[in-house]
Amino acid sequence: MTTLETTLTPYEALGGAPALQRLVTRFYALMDTLPEAYAVRQMHPESLAGSAQSLFEFLSGWFGGPSLYIARKGHPRLRMRHAPYAVDQRMRDEWMLCMTQALTEQVADVEMRDGLIRTFSNMADNLINTDGGAGCVAGVAHRA
Ligand code: HEM
Repeated sequence: MTTLETTLTPYEALGGAPALQRLVTRFYALMDTLPEAYAVRQMHPESLAGSAQSLFEFLSGWFGGPSLYIARKGHPRLRMRHAPYAVDQRMRDEWMLCMTQALTEQVADVEMRDGLIRTFSNMADNLINTDGGAGCVAGVAHRA
């Protein structure tokens, strides 16, 4: 007898679009309210609705679901799209604090949760574009 092996995408394993919506909504609610995320909140527009929609669409494709972001905005090129913002270690840590808390609240499977935290963390590291040093006005780091 043969068994049909199926491998779930992270999108499916998480619970599809409704679960992703919940995650993104909680992530931005935390960014909006946690005092520890004040600096990264300040960097975002007054309304977080557009940011939430973009992140939801990006994560849908990134996790193996429908490529909603590409359909609406083209190739993500996230480093390029974050270039106008001075993303330093502190901003990265504040962003990850919100995402880690949202994932901890919403993903019960510890192995999957830890894998997702690592995946987000690697992406966040990759988006750092300045060391936050004085005189660094354009978000371009001075390289030692
Ligand atoms: C490292 C810390 C990060 C900071 C400080 C940061 C900050 C920002 C800011 C200020 C925006 C613009 C918001 C807007 O225009 O609505 C943005 C957009 C976005 N961010 Fe981040 N972000 C970070 C990490 C990440 C990570 C890890 C991801 C994905 C896993 C991500 C995905 C996005 C997406 C998809 C957009 C929308 C881009 C666009 O369409 O213009 N960001 N981010």
